Amino acid sequence: MSFAPQSILVTGGAGFIGSNFIHSFLAGNPGSQVTNLDVLTYAGNLNNLRTLENNPAYSFVRGDIGDATLVAQLLTERKVDAVVHFAAESHVDRSISGPEIFVRTNVLGTQVLLEESRKHWQSGVVNDFRFLQISTDEVYGSLGESGFFTEETPLAPNSPYSASKAGADMLVRAYHETYGMPTLNTRCSNNYGPFHFPEKLIPLLIHNIINRKPLPVYGDGKNVRDWLHVNDHAAAVEVVLKTAAPGSIYNIGGNNEWFNIDIVNLVCDLLDERLGRSSGENRTLITFVKDRPGHDRRYAIDASRLKRDLGWEPAYTFERGIAETIEWYLSHQEWVAEVTSGSYREYYTQQYGGAA
Ligand code: NAD
Ligand code: TYD
Repeated sequence: MSFAPQSILVTGGAGFIGSNFIHSFLAGNPGSQVTNLDVLTYAGNLNNLRTLENNPAYSFVRGDIGDATLVAQLLTERKVDAVVHFAAESHVDRSISGPEIFVRTNVLGTQVLLEESRKHWQSGVVNDFRFLQISTDEVYGSLGESGFFTEETPLAPNSPYSASKAGADMLVRAYHETYGMPTLNTRCSNNYGPFHFPEKLIPLLIHNIINRKPLPVYGDGKNVRDWLHVNDHAAAVEVVLKTAAPGSIYNIGGNNEWFNIDIVNLVCDLLDERLGRSSGENRTLITFVKDRPGHDRRYAIDASRLKRDLGWEPAYTFERGIAETIEWYLSHQEWVAEVTSGSYREYYTQQYGGAA
């Protein structure tokens, strides 16, 4: 089965993974149009897409996925044949201190998007249609020392973030089962790479090491995450969008498990060398802090279904990916300063007078 979308609505395309996806999709699909619907929360940065501002295949609309009128208008006017839904509140720590916005955006926002997509798909304005829900391995909860998450693992989310993503996934499933809507669902492991907001572990480590700031390690540092380069995630999403059977679910992961403390030590050591600091100098910045409440112990993805059915495999080794990511942050310290200060918004307003 093959599907060739002509007009994609990407939600949350100004965030980390969405912006990387837009770059790679437009590069690989000349002739397709991409509309990026993003409300620009603290995590949405138009700087991530600056190089596309004059590309006629790309347009940005500032708006909320929960705005049914706007969503309906975009779907109809632009003859959207695929919705790729990245928009979300995405940080576990923020979901612990303020869960409400997570339910509003991730559950209610997704429901609005699904409902408007259903009406649009049923109206027959487009011949074929897909709704791709971008989800996370965190919906499966936590693993012990062995085993992997498969697509059959029962959902058992432990944080308000993962609970809200699981709620959205269940709605996506319901729209397929109830209305026959051609939905797809991907569940990926932890991503790393360019344009990653520096509140998440890897960019936070790089940024803090450069600035000789403490490196907070939660609990004993023995939690395990399964890291995948964001470009590999973007490639997997494209493969699923174009070739997966409607109604299917695919795990995405790189078979790349690390204890948090080992990642911290690795990034410290690579940056000792790169910054000309003495061996072990950056490790002195490591500070063990109070554990995150409900902290999932281990995530590990079994992505064999995706490989078997659709032939996807990661292209990056971790060695290459982490080295390139460190170089990217070293050469984009201005980006970090802008996204953390909010000045990109002032820049955008000055250039374009607010929403495009
Ligand atoms: P992010 O926080 O970097 O970006 C989220 C984007 O969504 C931002 O641009 C934000 O402005 C936008 N947004 C938030 N609320 C919105 C709303 N109501 N309307 C329109 N736009 C809104 O997130 P990310 O890390 O790029 O994650 C993208 C998706 O991938 C999320 O759905 C997340 O659950 C999922 N995911 C992330 C990871 C990861 O490691 N980061 C792993 C697996 C899955
Ligand atoms: P994070 O990047 O927030 O992703 P997630 O919680 O979605 O997996 O965190 C990755 C791991 O690193 C997680 O086990 C929590 C831990 N962590 C720290 O130890 N210190 C930190 O400052 C952060 C942000 C995360």
